[in-house]
Amino acid sequence: MKTITKILTEIVSDAFEKCGYDRALGLVTVSDRMDLCQFQCNGAFQGAKLYKKAPFMIAEDVASKLSDEKIFSKAEVVKPGFLNLSITDEYLLKLVREIAKDENLGFPQAEKETTVVIDYGGPNVAKALHIGHLRSANIGEALKRLARATGRKVYGDVHFGDWGTPIGLIITELHDRHPDWRCFAEDFNPDTETAPSLDVATLNEVYPLASKRSKEDEGFSKRAHEAVFELQNRRPGYIALWKQIMKASTDDIKGIYDRLNVSFDYWYGESDADKYIPELLDILNEKGLTYESDGALVCDVSEESDKMTVPPVIIKKSDGSSNYATTDLATILQREKDFKPDAIWYVVDKRQSMHFMQVFRTAKKAGLVPETTELEHFGYGTMNGSDGKPYKTREGGVMKLTDLLDSITDAAYEKLNSSSFVSDEDRREIAQKVAIAAVKFGDLINHCSKDYIFDMDKFLSFEGKTGTYLLYTVTRINSIISKVGADDSQKIAFNGVYTDIERELLLNILLTGEVIGRAINEKAPNYVCENAYQLASIFSSFYHDNHIMNEEDALKKETWISLSLLTRKLILKHLDILAIEPVAHM
Ligand code: ARG
Repeated sequence: MKTITKILTEIVSDAFEKCGYDRALGLVTVSDRMDLCQFQCNGAFQGAKLYKKAPFMIAEDVASKLSDEKIFSKAEVVKPGFLNLSITDEYLLKLVREIAKDENLGFPQAEKETTVVIDYGGPNVAKALHIGHLRSANIGEALKRLARATGRKVYGDVHFGDWGTPIGLIITELHDRHPDWRCFAEDFNPDTETAPSLDVATLNEVYPLASKRSKEDEGFSKRAHEAVFELQNRRPGYIALWKQIMKASTDDIKGIYDRLNVSFDYWYGESDADKYIPELLDILNEKGLTYESDGALVCDVSEESDKMTVPPVIIKKSDGSSNYATTDLATILQREKDFKPDAIWYVVDKRQSMHFMQVFRTAKKAGLVPETTELEHFGYGTMNGSDGKPYKTREGGVMKLTDLLDSITDAAYEKLNSSSFVSDEDRREIAQKVAIAAVKFGDLINHCSKDYIFDMDKFLSFEGKTGTYLLYTVTRINSIISKVGADDSQKIAFNGVYTDIERELLLNILLTGEVIGRAINEKAPNYVCENAYQLASIFSSFYHDNHIMNEEDALKKETWISLSLLTRKLILKHLDILAIEPVAHM
């Protein structure tokens, strides 16, 4: 389905053309003064320069052509040359009927086939997920669903950090603790032997200690780096142990993503890029892009116009091991082979922007992807505590993601205690969903590049721009719909516009396609949050003013029920993009 501004742009462009003006002047946008009109066209001002004519006269010409169009209730010129437009209620209803029938509910679809790979999550295996991983998961999942809802082919890839320093630290620490383990022996035989299985509690205990040790003990740190090198060179005992680490850690990580309604099409890691490294090196060398510097193999990526120093990217470290940039570049090669993507989006902390600039420049220089492929880093800001500093545990440490989710779930549970709609047995499950809705919405309502404050009370509030409010609104619509004995299979009929607030709701339903279009163009899920809130709050006013149940006029009642059903469908679709699950009642 075309969005309304597209439809109106065509009509107004035709009018410009009929008057002898360039049709490109007919661009229609949503009005920024809804009290005056619903849509506007400011093309007459540009036309004034082109045709050396007063903008008012051009706008008048166009408006007189538009007076034949039955869809406008208003096509009026306002000095010095604005064209203010509003559509009739009949036309509004016609379009809303089309939206109700459209399988995409009026969400604009990509015009040409587009494939996007989204790299998000990015946890380092062996380390417990902490709150720093929350935003990548939330934003990446929402972008993925937004891109899918607008007709793009999307692959999500978690890109585990599983081939670098953290693994080396774990291996070395375990070696010190268990020198007798066969996996550390030179003559370990992978055909007949395995490494001992590990659990996540062990990893969570070992990793922080090993990390601390490496900072204090240079010898330890050196051995850990050697371990990485040997792992990358597939020392059999290390590979066996690495597999055990991976198993314990990834099962746990998947469980946490599950809680957040986050899932990946590919659970690949840096290690999966390993087999593409030789080809990557060949390409870089053939193109003469690499040279040796202090024993390392590097590639220059600085550009004349750079305002800051962009250091060369290290492709092979002096000890021969590959690093973060190497695996990222090799992964681009893999993605190009597997998916031929039009775009690869990376949802990673904004502190890594230099890394991505280096990687993207290298990839383009080396031709790993076509010049037209969009490589974009969505650098997100920090989640802060009420003091405005990065959120910490009470002791000042980094908070584990599970602890954060547990604490907000407990708070939601407490809050639901007072609800008469929630039975004791459902309370836990509903609290979990409310908590996730609160956390996600509280995050996604902010533009990803901004920092925000994690405020549990605010996020769990039943009022205002919160996930909690949205879930609550859906439950209220549920109850209206069930009280009047309707359901989604019911015939949808919009018989008329009976009140102003209804018109506002209908118009916002119509404008949802515009908002979603802007959200995907700017890749900004915060618009989806805003629009969901907008629909919910207008619905609340509509419901407050009109007593659907007691309405005696059958046509009115049918229209209002239809409006409730459609609004619910739309809000649920927004929530689905945000990866927020609704609850039946609360
Ligand atoms: N594992 C990385 C880290 O913890 C994040 C990975 C992000 N994705 C990527 N393709 N580099 O910092």
